[in-house]
Amino acid sequence: MDFTLNEEQKMIIQEARRFAEERLAPKIEELDQKGEVNLKALKELGELGYLGMTVPEQYGGVNAGVVAYAGALIELSKVDAGTAVAVSVHNSLVNEGILLFGSEQQRQAYLPALTSGEKLGCFSLSEANAGSDPGALQLFANRNGDEYILNGTKNFTTSGDIADVIMVFAQTNKDKGAKGISAFLLAKDAAGFSVGKHENKMGIRSASCTELVFDNCRLPVESLLGQENKGLKIALTLLDGGRISIAAQAVGIAQAAYQEALRYSKERVQFKRPIAQFQAIQFMLAEMATELELATTLLFKVAWLKESGSKDYVKEAAMLKLYASEMSHRVCHKALQIHGGYGYMKDYKVERLYRDQRITEIYEGTSEIQKIVIARKILEA
Ligand code: CAA
Repeated sequence: MDFTLNEEQKMIIQEARRFAEERLAPKIEELDQKGEVNLKALKELGELGYLGMTVPEQYGGVNAGVVAYAGALIELSKVDAGTAVAVSVHNSLVNEGILLFGSEQQRQAYLPALTSGEKLGCFSLSEANAGSDPGALQLFANRNGDEYILNGTKNFTTSGDIADVIMVFAQTNKDKGAKGISAFLLAKDAAGFSVGKHENKMGIRSASCTELVFDNCRLPVESLLGQENKGLKIALTLLDGGRISIAAQAVGIAQAAYQEALRYSKERVQFKRPIAQFQAIQFMLAEMATELELATTLLFKVAWLKESGSKDYVKEAAMLKLYASEMSHRVCHKALQIHGGYGYMKDYKVERLYRDQRITEIYEGTSEIQKIVIARKILEA
């Protein structure tokens, strides 16, 4: 088993690190405070290829593979986990969705602009009463001749207000419930479509999160993504891959928190010596480093599994998301503890990292949902 990254993978990851340090770091504290998106950085990431990471060259992507993509997401997340999630949703859910389920015409129509950063994508599945249970959604899409007419409201859509391309899931057959859901692609200027409430979030405040409102939004039948009534399977397939990206985000946040704690423990003097000399602190650092190593190794293993295309990775992606997000919680908790009272103050980076980490245990499937997915797979084996 060879864990060595090739030169191209190393270059992609190093370039993401350089970009994060030079372009994201100077802005993140202000954006976190104001709850604003770094739109300029997203555009630049597109120009550098980071918005077409797993898309073949023929559609404008850089085809870098899932391993390099996961590594790049770690680097972005270490500095600005909000920008990282916008990149993740765009690549893992929108680009992948069009690539896997789109017609040739849809691939050619959407992917070149999405991969270059000219356009940004969002993925809209959740609703007020359909979170962990997306089969219960109530955005209705009624077929009328050559059109679908959409009515209803989605919520918690990452990049909902800044996206140009919206991938949305709606009920096309009320009687069939979860088996009557379809996926659609639409442009932000579609008549009857508007952006609703902007959420004021606890963390990842440099990512936007909004409601999307559909009021007699008429879409031509060509807007359907994949087959009618097969939308839930499309959403769940995409989320399997998305969970690898969220795990990368969780690892990146934890790495940043660990580095902050390590540095602080060597500088902070109490009882006449740096606190790193106390075994209580050393044990915390040892646990953090060990858990990070485990999660990072599992991340690259599952990324490789997806990239090799050799095997279904549903169970592995769920295990990874569960472990990495909860590991990140423990690491951020300890990092803040090592900082003592200072860690609770906004002047210190760990305060933001602690808030940013929390969502990784919730979106793209809560920890409890990951356990359901894992248990089902174990029991059916
Ligand atoms: N991968 C691919 N297909 C899957 C799948 C998976 N992991 N799990 C189920 N499917 C398929 C099934 O085979 C079935 O297909 P058929 O209709 O062809 O038979 C279909 O999908 C429905 O499956 P189930 O009947 O098993 O579905 P269920 O209602 O029992 O739900 C669940 C299963 C695991 C609870 C699932 O609903 C789930 O993962 N829920 C969490 C949803 C989620 O992650 N939401 C996140 C919102 S998006 C977000 O957070 C984005 C963001 O902004 C960052």
